[in-house]
Amino acid sequence: MKDIETLVNVRENISSNLLDGVKNRKSDFRTFTLCTTGEVPSGRTVVLRGYDATNNLLTFHTNFHAEKVEHLNSNPDVCCVFYSKSSKLQIRCFGIANINYKNKKSDSSWKKMGDISKECYFQNPLPGTPINNYDNFEKNIENKESDFFCVVEIKLRKIDWLFLKREGHRRANIFLNDKKEDLWVSP
Ligand SMILES: Cc1cc2nc3c(=O)[nH]c(=O)nc-3n(C[C@H](O)[C@H](O)[C@H](O)COP(=O)(O)O)c2cc1C
Repeated sequence: MKDIETLVNVRENISSNLLDGVKNRKSDFRTFTLCTTGEVPSGRTVVLRGYDATNNLLTFHTNFHAEKVEHLNSNPDVCCVFYSKSSKLQIRCFGIANINYKNKKSDSSWKKMGDISKECYFQNPLPGTPINNYDNFEKNIENKESDFFCVVEIKLRKIDWLFLKREGHRRANIFLNDKKEDLWVSP
């Protein structure tokens, strides 16, 4: 990895890692922990489906009836935590989630999805429903967009970047709406 000595380098590092996460299944940045606030806080792993470095948007897919969507409806403020053990990097992205359901964005994402990914969205009963045994659910696959599919876009406000280094850790805060605010912080 190129040495990171400026805040511009930090921005480049974030973009290249997140873009790699979208394209490369083997990347450590392929998944992240999505943290939401409900009655109690919750975190879960999701797949990074999109990163738009121009508009500062992170995208993931989920079931419209999942608990995380309930959380996002009551509080759209989220934190997305990425960690790569091999790169010794943690990237924490803070932003506001917007749910795309039965709109142009979700329709076009559905069209680009592979069949295996689509199948998850035809499962009954809904995610989180108690069942009598581990296999007591089914998939009623139909040849149309699932009513359960939605695309969540997170408009990023701030990124807390931490690079672990033997000689001294490096940490920076990146403010997506105003580059001038970017700063190094004590790790
Ligand atoms: C590697 C991995 C990738 C996952 N990707 C997704 C995903 O992209 N979208 C999703 O909704 N759930 C995904 N899950 C499942 C979630 O972690 C979680 O168990 C599920 O969505 C229910 O979360 P909730 O009840 O908080 O909504 C993934 C789990 C793992 C282990």
